[in-house]
Amino acid sequence: MSRTPVVVLISGTGSTLAALLEAGAHPDCPYEIVGVIADKEAAGLAHARAAGVPTAVVRLADHADRAAWDRALAEAVAGFSPRLVVLAGFMKLLGAPLLEAHPGRIINTHPALLPSFPGAHGVRDALAHGVKVTGATVIEVDAGVDTGRILAQVAVEVREDDTEATLHERIKQAEQPLLVDVVRRLTAANRTEQEPIA
Ligand code: GRF
Repeated sequence: MSRTPVVVLISGTGSTLAALLEAGAHPDCPYEIVGVIADKEAAGLAHARAAGVPTAVVRLADHADRAAWDRALAEAVAGFSPRLVVLAGFMKLLGAPLLEAHPGRIINTHPALLPSFPGAHGVRDALAHGVKVTGATVIEVDAGVDTGRILAQVAVEVREDDTEATLHERIKQAEQPLLVDVVRRLTAANRTEQEPIA
């Protein structure tokens, strides 16, 4: 049986992408990563290249304005014909062209327990607030900032001596299996259906 095509969007080091690629490399995995797209020459693209997965870079600076970039990003994603789009450390909000092309079929992972601490600094903000437990959340993406429907969460204890870096690293250890699990579940359950995947 053919596997469900998944596109991953990244901006950073790509450790989350690496976890998705590793699970996806097994022939019995229900999904296959068919393309990786970044908004800059992200270090994480190396994971895709090493795995022989096609990559694309769609830079905001190469486009006349934000709307043109939104259209270019949507076109780049559509070029891979994915059934599911996964944001794995992609640090830009998605515009209407991409959201409307894949309704209910774009998911994101966030390093905090939403709806607490949305935005680009979820780990730093949770630490600054003094919470004792934080974690990671996988959501369905909508037009807001980390406002979409919650699909899965995992809790991570905050230690007295945690820095943003140590806490984020521990969150990633819990976040990556959580995301892989959600992607496996969604792609296995919806292989042949046309409606929103989640
Ligand atoms: C993850 O914790 C993700 O939730 C956040 O950025 C991190 C991505 O790290 N938005 P990496 O680039 O996959 O290592």
